[in-house]
Amino acid sequence: MTTTLIRNGTVVTADLTYKADVRIENGKIAEIGQNLSADGATELDASGCYVMPGGIDPHVHLEMPFMGTYSSDDFESGTRAGLAGGTTMVVDFCLPDPGQSLLDALKRWDNKSTRANCDYSFHMAITWWDKQVWDEMETVVKDHGINTFKHFMAYKGALMVNDDEMFASFTRCASLGALPLVHAENGDVVATLQQKLLAEGNDGPEGHAYSRPPEVEGEATNRAIMIADMAGVPLYVVHTSCEQSHEAIRRARQKGMRVYGEPLIQHLTLDEGEYFNEDWDHSARRVMSPPFRNKMHQDSLWAGLQSGSLSVVATDHCAFTTEQKRTGVGDFTKIPNGTGGLEDRLPMLWTYGVGTGRLTPNEFVAVTSTNIAKILNIYPRKGAILVGADADIVVFDPEKEKTISADGQQSSIDYNVFEGKKVKGLPRYVLTRGKVVIDDGAVKTEEGHGQFVKREPYQAVNKALSTWKDLVAPRKVERSGIPASGV
Ligand code: URP
Ligand code: ZN
Ligand code: ZN
Ligand code: ZN
Repeated sequence: MTTTLIRNGTVVTADLTYKADVRIENGKIAEIGQNLSADGATELDASGCYVMPGGIDPHVHLEMPFMGTYSSDDFESGTRAGLAGGTTMVVDFCLPDPGQSLLDALKRWDNKSTRANCDYSFHMAITWWDKQVWDEMETVVKDHGINTFKHFMAYKGALMVNDDEMFASFTRCASLGALPLVHAENGDVVATLQQKLLAEGNDGPEGHAYSRPPEVEGEATNRAIMIADMAGVPLYVVHTSCEQSHEAIRRARQKGMRVYGEPLIQHLTLDEGEYFNEDWDHSARRVMSPPFRNKMHQDSLWAGLQSGSLSVVATDHCAFTTEQKRTGVGDFTKIPNGTGGLEDRLPMLWTYGVGTGRLTPNEFVAVTSTNIAKILNIYPRKGAILVGADADIVVFDPEKEKTISADGQQSSIDYNVFEGKKVKGLPRYVLTRGKVVIDDGAVKTEEGHGQFVKREPYQAVNKALSTWKDLVAPRKVERSGIPASGV
């Protein structure tokens, strides 16, 4: 039996802050209390540090087949980058090709993920629609432990699904106890704007931002929310980047709908000015969908995290090298969409969130770990410092500083979108199921240590919504005296 004792730290969870030691046995938290005895355990000194649940990143694309290439970080380098920054679990998207069985696609993702250094799970994407997909969704939920289905409202001609397909899939999610996710951008309008901009000679990376204005996102978010409401299912909106989308989520929540919004650390801290840099590479490296926005939108996202109308901070880590980005020289629509962030999410959010007084340390834990563990239905196994929880832990030193740079980063790409940013607040130790993999600066990850985390279907929220749907379902009025037809 391996035993580790985290000594002299301050435990910070989503709702409590207190001094305590944490004993870990066989990958799980075994005891929490003051002055625990060492008893032969390996001791980690957490003096001056916060002991927090490891980050969970619910939105990553590792070795993703996309836009004619593959994202460069695979499950090995991607999870290593995550661990180096305090993230101890990632959720990737399984993407069936059009016409491909969901179960065949899952086999491909199972093969890729064997190299993961930390625990992981998958969302299943609905990229096409017919009875086979309807049938296989049940197997995906019941036999494969996947309770979330992703729908792309953008990427016309590739991953995009239409409203009728989305309504059918959302309805299926409702009956299976699953949660639909949406990439909310109006793909038809984007495709039209792209062609218009190219025809006008706007072929540089700034054209990408012009082709995806906030209204494109606000409209799609609102549409997805209304479709989810009609289907009687909760909804999770990935990479919420602007006030228009946030406003739709806020309004829905005020009306009592279960809608969750996920801003990215990139949208919170980088703005649209990045696309107007005279260096083509600089701008293209930051091309992602939705694009970075102006300060008004950033303020809206921060306010959403503070007030609770937005729930989770993710990365959408989808890293392409400069060489890959250059496929789009002369035509911005061919620049592979995606940016990295796995290694930097926690230090950046701590620095720009807790370090500025926008977030409390407890709110930081909520939006990086606990909220998403609850939404994914894996709490308190993940996202908690509780006896019996997995020992996925970050011992976080709020005084430790660095300047972010591609030099020495874990990600396999040749740049970092946060290059030059100074962060204060970094992991001293990171543990994945009890194994110390970040040890005061030394990276000791173990390829293949990560395990797939099965997620049970939802009980409470889906049941509440289906009970309500049944109550208000159309019912024929039984009448006694029906008059004769007037014809
Ligand atoms: O630009 C992005 N976000 N790339 C990854 C795929 C997606 O849309 O999430
Ligand atoms: Zn997306
Ligand atoms: Zn994504
Ligand atoms: Zn191991």
